[in-house]
Amino acid sequence: MTISLGEPMDALQTLLNDAPERIDRAMTIAELDALENDLVGRTSPIASARRMLGQIKDGAERGATGKRINDIATQIQAMIDARRSDVETAEESERLVNDAVDVTLPGRRPRRGTHHLIQSTIDEIVDIFVGLGYTVATGPEAETEFYNFTALNIPRTHPSRAESDTLYLDYGDEEDEILLRTHTSPMQARYMEQHDPPTYVVVPGRVFRADAIDATHSPVFSQLEGLAVDEGITLGDLKGTLASFAKQFFGSDTQVKFIPHYFPFTEPSAEMHAYTDGRWIELLGCGMVNPAVFEHVGYDPERYTGFAFGMGMERMAMVRHGIADLRTLLDADRRVLEQYR
Ligand code: DAH
Repeated sequence: MTISLGEPMDALQTLLNDAPERIDRAMTIAELDALENDLVGRTSPIASARRMLGQIKDGAERGATGKRINDIATQIQAMIDARRSDVETAEESERLVNDAVDVTLPGRRPRRGTHHLIQSTIDEIVDIFVGLGYTVATGPEAETEFYNFTALNIPRTHPSRAESDTLYLDYGDEEDEILLRTHTSPMQARYMEQHDPPTYVVVPGRVFRADAIDATHSPVFSQLEGLAVDEGITLGDLKGTLASFAKQFFGSDTQVKFIPHYFPFTEPSAEMHAYTDGRWIELLGCGMVNPAVFEHVGYDPERYTGFAFGMGMERMAMVRHGIADLRTLLDADRRVLEQYR
């Protein structure tokens, strides 16, 4: 049996010899598809050799050459098919590895939020006073000069009215000036105007001062105001109430003392100090409601007496938890805040 076509057949033999190595190098189905096209596709040497078969005049020779071409094509195709199934298996297992979900891994716990220490301090202190029979009220942060100062018997010349201390929003006529309240005390006057005695109320809220931020100051902080007005209220009631609060909040063996002080809206006035961590520390301002305030709000100063107090919430939290720098509470550093859940 004679095989002719000379050069084209030599090229096919070379193609067959090189095929195993070339096919082995195809690492993906896409590479293999391209290679298949080169080796046995319509523009491949095999296809052109087939097209040249007609030039062979001798029938037996043409048959033998055609058979040889088919033989080569079949061998190459078989190698490609074998490689294809290997590559498919490899690609599949790689995909499985990449997509793998390990159902035995423990789940990721969602992070649970919590109240900020300042808020939980407010909640806890409000709860203590509610336990003593007080109701809770809140008031506006943008306040008039009248409620923030005048109704509280704070004279027009008082330094706290100055712009160096108070943040003004709107300069109107004398009593129409709008400012950011510098304390929660204006709610004493607002509440008494709207409620007849007996009055037992606490007012938590945000207050504002023209202070730069440092270890003990912030332009925004929180206070809690307290007011008790009834017939026959004495300084003894004030001391007993606030001592009871201190024991509930700081611990049952907490000692307190009252040091005379001055506030225009109370007379007499005092600071309450508590003994913690081996030292006396100022906790809050308080006093017997000045009859001048009763006059402003229409309470009968002959019939009623009362006491009031105001305390900083950040300060309460700092004293209780031994926090030296107020900024610790304002930085929103979760590593710190999470310690006070
Ligand atoms: N308002 C005062 C302040 O911000 C605190 C205060 C003192 C409130 C005495 C009172 C009080 O009710 O009786 O410094």
